[in-house]
Amino acid sequence: MEATPRRVEHQQTDKGYVPVYTTAVVEQPWDGYSADDHATWSTLYQRQRELLVGRACQEFLDAQDAMGMSAHMIPRFDQLNEVLGAATGWTLVGVEGLLPELDFFDHLAHRRFPVTWWIRRPDQIDYIAEPDLFHDLFGHVPLLMNPVFADYMAAYGRGGVKAHAIGPDALQNLTRLYWYTVEFGLINTADGLRIYGAGIVSSKGESLYSLESAAPNRIGFDLERIMRTRYRIDTFQKTYFVIDSFEQLMAATGPDFTPIYARLADTAHLPAGQVHEGDIVFQRGSGEGWAEGGDV
Ligand code: PHE
Ligand code: FE
Repeated sequence: MEATPRRVEHQQTDKGYVPVYTTAVVEQPWDGYSADDHATWSTLYQRQRELLVGRACQEFLDAQDAMGMSAHMIPRFDQLNEVLGAATGWTLVGVEGLLPELDFFDHLAHRRFPVTWWIRRPDQIDYIAEPDLFHDLFGHVPLLMNPVFADYMAAYGRGGVKAHAIGPDALQNLTRLYWYTVEFGLINTADGLRIYGAGIVSSKGESLYSLESAAPNRIGFDLERIMRTRYRIDTFQKTYFVIDSFEQLMAATGPDFTPIYARLADTAHLPAGQVHEGDIVFQRGSGEGWAEGGDV
């Protein structure tokens, strides 16, 4: 059976034809998932769970179990919402794909997490550029069960609305924080470094690379350092930042960022792969295999 077709409209812009997604919240068309869709979920779920035991933080793995996620079939948002709502007051809402920044921030500020309803095609199992159901649901949703991380995400949404009003530089600083924590964060535990970032846990290659490769830097979390640091969107990260705990993350991001944005406006940005004076270095990367240029 074919995978579920998606309707995406395209609009001509100065960058050529680009997909336009509706910003509307959509009902998860659960009955419309094909056997291929469920099989894609199963394959990815099984493969990642096997890989992530001992690599992802225990909070993440336990939360998937507590929510009743399994390899069996694509979960239903309404069932997950019963567990999630009771735990931390978050609600999953279905969307077509990436949202405009302000819409995204507004959802988070109101404890709604937008989840792309469609899943990648079988030939995209190992890589897809844009977020799909597997990335959003498998990667992002479990930690919303953790009360501290749940509060961090809502605070991030409120901070996003504020940064959007301040301007593009503030927004860039804040986006880097999201990138290096929510998407690509590592956490230091008594058992060693573990993954909590959604961009890592939803990728087989980066789950191994982020923890085990000698190539990338692994550096202790430092808010302003992160806000200054460019990142990669087309390769594995050159640098990962390591938090000690979700409480540390929450405490460090509690203060008003307005004066920090003002200060950073005059401060040089750092290349994605640079180790900087004052860094707490868990590992200085060998840089092997790094692509030249391309930091965003
Ligand atoms: N304290 C931040 C601000 O004033 C808001 C924020 C909290 C941003 C947590 C990110 C994460 O903008
Ligand atoms: Fe993501």
